[in-house]
Amino acid sequence: MRKILLIVACVLSYCAVSQAQGGMWVPSLIEERVKDMQSKGLKISAGDIYATDKASYKDAVVLFGGGCTGEMVSSEGLMLTNHHCGFSVLQKHSSVEHDYLKDGFWAMNRDEELPNPGLTVKFLVRMDDVTDKVFAGTEGLSASEAESIKRSNIEKVIQETVGGTHYEADVKTLYYGNQYYIYVYEVFEDVRIVGAPPSSIGKFGGETDNWMWPRHTGDFMYFRVYAGKDNKPAPYSKDNVPYKPKKYFNISTGGIGEGDFTMVYGYPARTQQYLFSSGVDDVLSHSNPAKIKLRTMRLEEIQRARKSDPAIRIAYSYKEASIANAWKKWQGESLGLERLKTIAKKEAYEKSFEEWAYTKPEYKDVVSSLRAQYDSIHDYSLAWDYLREAIFAIELVQVMRIADKWIESPSEAIPQKLSDFYGDYYPEIDKKIAKKLLAEYMGKIPQRFIPDEVAEDIKTANGVDAYVDMLFQSSSFVSADRLASAIAQKQDLTKDPAVVFYFAFANMFNNAVRGKIIKYDANIEALQKTFVRGQKAFDADNKTGRVFFPDANHTLRVSYGSVSGYSPEDAVWYMPISTLEGIIAKDNPQEYEFNIPQKLRDIHASSDYGRWSVNGTVPVCFIANNHTSGGNSGSPVLNGKGELIGINFDRTWTGTMSDIEFDPEICRNISLDIRYVLFVTEKIGGAGYLIDEMNIVHSKAK
Ligand code: ARG
Ligand code: GLU
Repeated sequence: MRKILLIVACVLSYCAVSQAQGGMWVPSLIEERVKDMQSKGLKISAGDIYATDKASYKDAVVLFGGGCTGEMVSSEGLMLTNHHCGFSVLQKHSSVEHDYLKDGFWAMNRDEELPNPGLTVKFLVRMDDVTDKVFAGTEGLSASEAESIKRSNIEKVIQETVGGTHYEADVKTLYYGNQYYIYVYEVFEDVRIVGAPPSSIGKFGGETDNWMWPRHTGDFMYFRVYAGKDNKPAPYSKDNVPYKPKKYFNISTGGIGEGDFTMVYGYPARTQQYLFSSGVDDVLSHSNPAKIKLRTMRLEEIQRARKSDPAIRIAYSYKEASIANAWKKWQGESLGLERLKTIAKKEAYEKSFEEWAYTKPEYKDVVSSLRAQYDSIHDYSLAWDYLREAIFAIELVQVMRIADKWIESPSEAIPQKLSDFYGDYYPEIDKKIAKKLLAEYMGKIPQRFIPDEVAEDIKTANGVDAYVDMLFQSSSFVSADRLASAIAQKQDLTKDPAVVFYFAFANMFNNAVRGKIIKYDANIEALQKTFVRGQKAFDADNKTGRVFFPDANHTLRVSYGSVSGYSPEDAVWYMPISTLEGIIAKDNPQEYEFNIPQKLRDIHASSDYGRWSVNGTVPVCFIANNHTSGGNSGSPVLNGKGELIGINFDRTWTGTMSDIEFDPEICRNISLDIRYVLFVTEKIGGAGYLIDEMNIVHSKAK
């Protein structure tokens, strides 16, 4: 009886989820969603969102750098994204004399804008279903025989589509090999920094507030895209001119409130909505706890050290931020998966799927086969997690990856990357961390994943601590000075104990782990293809009403929902909009994460908000139930008319299981209110001229 109830509840809950519109929709198919979107407040048409025969909003969205999203906001190439997306390029321009991270940066004219070699933005020209072309000639072949034909078909499709043009193209799969799409991009490589607030605004709240609501982070940065005189992409040149985009967003200062339609248009990187129950169990019971524990060890040491010395705080701030970001996300994800009982729901669903599939040869064995493959991969993928998060997380070991081939025939000059590394390196901290990480690895990982030579050395040294002490005492890689003198003495760096340690693990990984992971992953992928197709048939047979969308794969997607508060715990209701009052309440000159610029204090004291005043304050951030993920950082948040109302930059941590299962009750994306962006630009940056360049509209959303 309990089981039946669970199955019914499960099917119902899938209906509930699909009705509540988790989903990252494919722009070229948005027509299929547009009725639903319009019923929730969308005023524009499918063709306004995505078109290839005319300018549409897709032409105003860019894939920024390696992993973020950005949006065009003027006819003169002006673009917005997040501060945390532009952080590393801004850092390269910063020095002690010009600390743009600390003080902010505002180009007061176009000559002052800062070029960034290597940084690109990509505009999606079009996306097309090329499934038939990719599968051509593979009928009746085994999966492995088909693989090479598919690969050459993909090459051919790319050639046919962009050969002889200045466009680039990618072919990516949707639904695990069931569909293939080609994505054609125009790639611009002259992208200059225009403006950034000081970190005390752009990173306000730091790690404490990261993934949290209520939030008050002014996480934005301006860039400008430049083109050749023909408006086509061109390498950096003084003669380049601002790119004239086919489309840019109008900016709405009309405001938003609870229940208003919102839409996020951007590049989510990866979700796993169709992950098999055993895969979720691996995440929840093994991978996340292991990774969280290992990162906790690192963070504890860094935090202890930085309290004792402000120089360490600066040197380790970027490292700490990147360790802490996923660490916090995984904790929220685990809580969310437990709360939703995702594993039990998936197991119940898979059981009824198996019963349904009993008479269907195509799907009959897919569930049991998936289970078997997950059993086979389990030890290897856990070993891989431990290797990455314990062994290769030791900074002394990372040196091997940075220096790489140079170690074999080192020249006098230490490679730049390596000197940069030493600029922020404290071997004493690393040594303490290494002891903990290695001990944890030795204690948790089966013997066969411990290289013999390391096991022996540890034994000879009389334990992990003494072994690590020896490693740091005798390695030349612990400091630039030691390394320089080793080179001067013509020591063979390939015999350095840290190098030996690194290669012992790298070789073990290559011999004993890598191949297995590749093999079982490929098997899982192949089964997943059948399973996803089967789920569509199964749900259709059962009339569950579940609406399928492809997992995020770092291609352009639309998600929509509404501005929405939520209840994080019993008797508590979070309102959806934060204001300047919250910033002032958190302001604390003694806490570097919460120490706002004096100018902002003064503006607040005099309530001098000018045209940005709303009910006597300034709105800062808002939450909504749009389904987003990593990569959506910097995405435009639009109202029903397609006007820019905000910039997406985060989710609430307890809702990050939305990468596996979305829960409309508590999953919230966090956006910066565009009015706070304009307020900071004008009042803090003194760069009001940028606002003159934009098209500001004051329309109400409704
Ligand atoms: N949590 C956001 C994201 O996943 C913001 C990250 C900014 N970095 C940080 N460590 N605070 O990217
Ligand atoms: N901050 C994330 C990013 O850089 C977005 C947050 C999320 O994972 O939703 O893409």
